[in-house]
Amino acid sequence: MIYLDNAATSWPKPEIVYQTMDKFLRESGGNPGRGGHSLALAAEKVVEETRLLVARLINAPAKDRVVFTFNCTDSLNLALKGLLSPGDHVITSQIGHNSLVRPLRKLEERGVEVTRLAPQTNSWVVSIKDLKEALTKRTKLVVVTHASNVNGIVQPIEEYGEIVRRHGCIFMVDAAQTAGTFPIDVQAGNIDLIAFSGHKGLFGPPGTGVLYLSERVELDTLREGGTGSHSESEEQPAELPKKYESGTLNTVGIAGLGAGLGYIFEHGIERVRLHEQALVTRLLGGLSRITGITIYKPKNVLNQVPIVSFNLKGWQPAEVGAVLDQSFDIKVRAGLHCAAAAHKTFGTYPHGTVRIGLSYLNTPDDIEAAIDALGKIAKSPIEMPQGSLEPTRSKSKKH
Ligand SMILES: Cc1ncc(COP(=O)(O)O)c(C=O)c1O
Repeated sequence: MIYLDNAATSWPKPEIVYQTMDKFLRESGGNPGRGGHSLALAAEKVVEETRLLVARLINAPAKDRVVFTFNCTDSLNLALKGLLSPGDHVITSQIGHNSLVRPLRKLEERGVEVTRLAPQTNSWVVSIKDLKEALTKRTKLVVVTHASNVNGIVQPIEEYGEIVRRHGCIFMVDAAQTAGTFPIDVQAGNIDLIAFSGHKGLFGPPGTGVLYLSERVELDTLREGGTGSHSESEEQPAELPKKYESGTLNTVGIAGLGAGLGYIFEHGIERVRLHEQALVTRLLGGLSRITGITIYKPKNVLNQVPIVSFNLKGWQPAEVGAVLDQSFDIKVRAGLHCAAAAHKTFGTYPHGTVRIGLSYLNTPDDIEAAIDALGKIAKSPIEMPQGSLEPTRSKSKKH
């Protein structure tokens, strides 16, 4: 089996992640911050060590400004709904994932004004000029997707951050597709809020996410409850990170995330990135030789995370995904990838694309197998397993 759907969630995880989670549950499975017994303290130690590693990853000034959530969607909801009130203005880009698009739509219904900037058609990057022109006196927040989960294009967040800070508003980044594969510095980049998943490039398990908040940001809470602190009070504690971490944390997941982060630091982000770039270059080279393929990519592989989207002439993306899975045991994502607005912008709506999402653990052999399989699919109509996709096949399919 070849897994090429790492943009959805990374798999496999480094061996140390499995081992750490198993050991954690057996030996440290208490509830952190709840009680002073050794098992609770052992769990707390692991959670705080992971928090420190996250802070190091993004150069956060203090680990307590790193909040654990359950995924990137959770982080984005907390940040957007905790920050914005009716009458506020927010600027975003048109290439966001639904985890950003939908909370913003909900807030719009409640009276928040949203400006959606289209990227330029030659580079697919939102221009500085457009951002500057969209900023108003009422703009409270600028929120951008660091790398598109449709085609991997990376936006120049450092440039945006400088402008947003100068204008005096809050700058937020959705780094779901860049955390762990792209260097991020929240202090140098003037980033006030950053949200990402633990289960993608950081090799943590599902159910892990992160939100970092700078000192310039005060968020209302979305959930209140037990924090293991100030138990005598009915008020939610004000101190971070407890203010935003009500209820029992996904401690075993956070232990796994810590192991994933440790693995990345051991190998180095630069090495991770070079390996992934080499894989993307190899993949693009092989795919570009396939007749009838359209690849949706930036001009420069340096401006891309390891996500490659494409379509084969005469084939629906879902059909290509199904044939890759059923006939070649290769796992990719096909369709809209929870980002319809991005597909409308890139011209691939409503059917979407076939998406290959690579990880540091993929090999050149994985890439060759995918290229070979796609070459075969493009050349000949493959026998479909009985009844599987016939109803959706285009009758006018030509090769
Ligand atoms: C750019 C982007 N933002 C947010 C998300 C949501 O991440 P999660 O599934 O961890 O909530 C994704 C998931 O694919 C994504 O690609």
